[in-house]
Amino acid sequence: MVFEGLLCSVMFRAFILAFLALVVAADGSVGPSTNRSFCTESKECLEYQLVCKTDEYEVRHYSPTRWVSTDAEAYFMGVGAAMAFRRLFQYITGANEGGVQMEMTAPVLVKIPEDTKMWEPALYSLSFPLPAAYQEKPPTPTNDKLYFTEMPEMDVYVRSYGGWMLSVTSRLHAHLLTKELGRVRASYNHSYHYGVGYDSPLKLLNRHNEVWYVADGELVCTDPQEPTPPHTPRPTTPVSPTDSLSDPPTHTLSDSPALPPLQPFLICSIRLFTNSPGPPCSPPL
Ligand SMILES: *[C@@H]1O[C@H](CO)[C@@H](O)[C@H](O)[C@H]1NC(C)=O
Ligand SMILES: *[C@@H]1O[C@H](CO)[C@@H](O)[C@H](O)[C@H]1NC(C)=O
Repeated sequence: MVFEGLLCSVMFRAFILAFLALVVAADGSVGPSTNRSFCTESKECLEYQLVCKTDEYEVRHYSPTRWVSTDAEAYFMGVGAAMAFRRLFQYITGANEGGVQMEMTAPVLVKIPEDTKMWEPALYSLSFPLPAAYQEKPPTPTNDKLYFTEMPEMDVYVRSYGGWMLSVTSRLHAHLLTKELGRVRASYNHSYHYGVGYDSPLKLLNRHNEVWYVADGELVCTDPQEPTPPHTPRPTTPVSPTDSLSDPPTHTLSDSPALPPLQPFLICSIRLFTNSPGPPCSPPL
């Protein structure tokens, strides 16, 4: 009887442990930063599975996650992002019900609409991933400009680059990525991309940033030119008019959104990020 009771309680505990392990695994999409070489400045980072990789991009799978977000309307990403960044930073450093202090978790995500016009401010949204401990029950923000974003499970095409994430570099790398995705005929959502930053503005070396496009449908990681060796003639299947019509348009430089001029606001943005003193930042226009 005693033995049976013991066995039962051992099994019960094993069951509970297994259950807990499952629960932890289910929201293990934000985790310790030891696994990624570019996640160096925060204790936790968003986790992912690498699906495949080419010389030009990676395909990654992300599990559903919860983020704290805020929007910024601005002519230049730098200024909008700096204001939004401050609000998010205040939230994690105690501007929430209960005054909870959270560790900053990487990366910072900026959702960038594709068709911004020079003469209209664009709506950017900035998000921080909630640390693993607050994924389920994040404290309520005291600032009503903050909200939570439930990021669905998704596959993304990723291009990485160093240096600073400015609207110019972000758009340049977004353009290079879309050019490549067009070439390999990958389908993705064309209406926006994410600018993804892993480093604080104070880090000077080995900075890591990314551009993401959300994949749509079948994932492409093979080069359409690869199966045909360079000297074999192209297959001689007749090309019907509908085939040639369905060819995706080739991307040329003129298809890309106009690159905004280099902003003189960078220094100002960095000052806002880091709360350092200086003359007031003038509005962009
Ligand atoms: C992350 O790193 C830890 C320890 O370095 C390791 O045990 C774990 O398997 C890694 N997880 C992934 C998903 O690579
Ligand atoms: C692309 O994203 C936008 C904005 O999130 C959404 O409204 C739209 O339905 C998406 N398009 C496709 C093809 O999934």
